[in-house]
Amino acid sequence: MTNKNDIEKPWQGRFSEPTDKFVEAFTASVTFDKRLYKHDIAGSTAHARMLGECGILSKDEVETICRGLQNILQQIEDDKFEWSIKLEDVHMNIEAQLTTLIGDTGKKLHTGRSRNDQVATDVRLYLREEIDTCKQLLLNLMHGVVELAANETDTIMPGFTHLQTAQPVTFGHHLLAWYSMMVRDLDRLFDCRKRVNCMPLGAAALAGTTYPINRHFTAELLGFETIATNSLDAVSDRDFVIEYISWASILIMHLSRISEELVLWNSARFKFIDLPDRFCTGSSIMPQKKNPDVPELVRGKSGRIFGNLVSLLTLMKGQALAYNKDNQEDKEPLFDTIDNIKGCLRAFGDMIPALVANRDEMRSAAAEGFSTATDLADYLVKKDLPFRDAHEVVGKAVAFAINKHCDLPAMTLEQFKQFSPIIEDDVYKVLTLEGSVNARNHAGGTAPEQVKLAVEQAREYLAQYR
Ligand code: ARG
Repeated sequence: MTNKNDIEKPWQGRFSEPTDKFVEAFTASVTFDKRLYKHDIAGSTAHARMLGECGILSKDEVETICRGLQNILQQIEDDKFEWSIKLEDVHMNIEAQLTTLIGDTGKKLHTGRSRNDQVATDVRLYLREEIDTCKQLLLNLMHGVVELAANETDTIMPGFTHLQTAQPVTFGHHLLAWYSMMVRDLDRLFDCRKRVNCMPLGAAALAGTTYPINRHFTAELLGFETIATNSLDAVSDRDFVIEYISWASILIMHLSRISEELVLWNSARFKFIDLPDRFCTGSSIMPQKKNPDVPELVRGKSGRIFGNLVSLLTLMKGQALAYNKDNQEDKEPLFDTIDNIKGCLRAFGDMIPALVANRDEMRSAAAEGFSTATDLADYLVKKDLPFRDAHEVVGKAVAFAINKHCDLPAMTLEQFKQFSPIIEDDVYKVLTLEGSVNARNHAGGTAPEQVKLAVEQAREYLAQYR
């Protein structure tokens, strides 16, 4: 049996000297693209079966090739496969091993195919599978957020604008704002998957092939929904990678915003939540510290994912049709994005349901900072004062309260009447936190009744994917 390492590079024929050792290592991708092995073998198996179906290879040859490929899959999974830099990439490593195992029939596998359409196919197959994993992780997180919201429909916290206390909201409502972002993320992921699931195979190097191939047959075997309609585009297109990283960028931007809130809320200044110890770490110098490392790290991961998006956009912008070696640089940013986004989704999916709300702290923070001032203005408007005048009256009342170091509900009716004679005893119930949130009882509003409805709708939405 020939040793794989003795096999010449498949393209050696045209060359008069061996590749420079440094150049060999510099141009090789096997160290990172070997993670595509399963999809490379699946693509090759389908390609061989199609060649058989179309009478380009004999049935026996196809069976021999498929058995050989299965063998190689086993070797790789048993960690018995020797990857060689000399053979450049995952594709040539596997093809060379096939010839080592089954002899000359192995050399027929590449009929009507090029590494250009092969690699594009492998990456699509691989990414399609990872998208399905991401989908499950995201759904799990969404489920966690919704169930936490279901427990906190009546919990009152301050809502912020400019990080200043604005109006009271329910914590459940705040959590469902996160959920709303994630619904869009899920939708974008589905949309991305559609364009990933398109088969380039058959485009060969760039112009198609002279063999009577049947691309639909291969696509069917590989579960591709469509086939690429132009061979030049098929081998050079990396939009689908860019789309996936764009998806990941928007998602990590959301997770980073959420992280920022978690870090603030977990701090001694806010004390709105407790992150369980198992999601935090300590300080090697300050014994009292419990640091919210998980949200901080997720917030930090956004940097590399945005960077990966810029990498890919820059990688593509200067490329004339069709395939260029530049494209080899698509893999590491893609793999890095997948690994990190899965890690973030996993960490959040575990952590969010375990988060403990300090309801008393949230409530007393909501009671401070004149959070029901808008309610007072609305009260005056309902008594026929124009809104701008009402705003002015309340502004003055707030300035008065600041001076007296008290909150609006602590002011006497007499004090209120200095600012507007139409204020009556019934003002106190609009100044309560419950009165404030309950009054915002319309679709999309923060009232507990609406949050309960929104939780039900969210549960129904998620149930279709269970
Ligand atoms: N390792 C290469 C890549 O990742 C595979 C395709 C190589 N094709 C070529 N014509 N050199 O893009």
